[in-house]
Amino acid sequence: MTLELTWLGHSAFLLSDGTCTVAVDPFLTGNPTAPCVAADIKCSHIALTHGHEDHVGDTIEIAKANGAPVIAAFEITNWVQSQGHDLVEPGNPGGRIDLGGDCWVAFTQALHSSSYGGQYMGMPCGLMLHVGGKTVYHCGDTGLFGDMALLGEIYKPDVAIIPIGDRFTMGPELASRAADLIGAPIAVPCHYDTWPPIEVDVSRFTPQFAAVQVMDPGVAWSVTT
Ligand code: NI
Ligand code: MN
Repeated sequence: MTLELTWLGHSAFLLSDGTCTVAVDPFLTGNPTAPCVAADIKCSHIALTHGHEDHVGDTIEIAKANGAPVIAAFEITNWVQSQGHDLVEPGNPGGRIDLGGDCWVAFTQALHSSSYGGQYMGMPCGLMLHVGGKTVYHCGDTGLFGDMALLGEIYKPDVAIIPIGDRFTMGPELASRAADLIGAPIAVPCHYDTWPPIEVDVSRFTPQFAAVQVMDPGVAWSVTT
């Protein structure tokens, strides 16, 4: 079993083992770095870190087109149902949801906010995703917190996906500290350079212990570590 990881720009990623394909934060319409459009996405599940528009993105369209359950905080899945899509898997930090075939998603905390169109969307989350025999920690939008070390110890992620764009999340220096706290061998930067307010020099993302994998949107990477 292998994990194929694809960056769709901003915080959007596809994780696939060929059977289970999870679209995380599928924001494509209005995402200037998106390599494809919503209609191109084929997935078995959608997982959301929080309710902000640059993360919910095209969730409703993709969920309906694929008949895919939406995994997200309880308040978000209530909203998804109000949009005419009943297939949901609500959760909250600390909880884990089995997706079948040795795949699962667990919710972690994130230091952020969560709303959609001004409506409260519950706790912002990070996601621990186990697909293709690998564990990926998608931190969501978050500031630095010390329990990242605990999450690393418990879940032993192979890859950490970390926001580095500053202003709304960590910048590269704090994100580097986050990568070292988490302790995954590979750190993938995201949530940067999408728009001018979050433009940063990715070469400032320099964890001491993790190798940095800068991904190109739309280029699949087989995670073998
Ligand atoms: Ni956000
Ligand atoms: Mn965001």
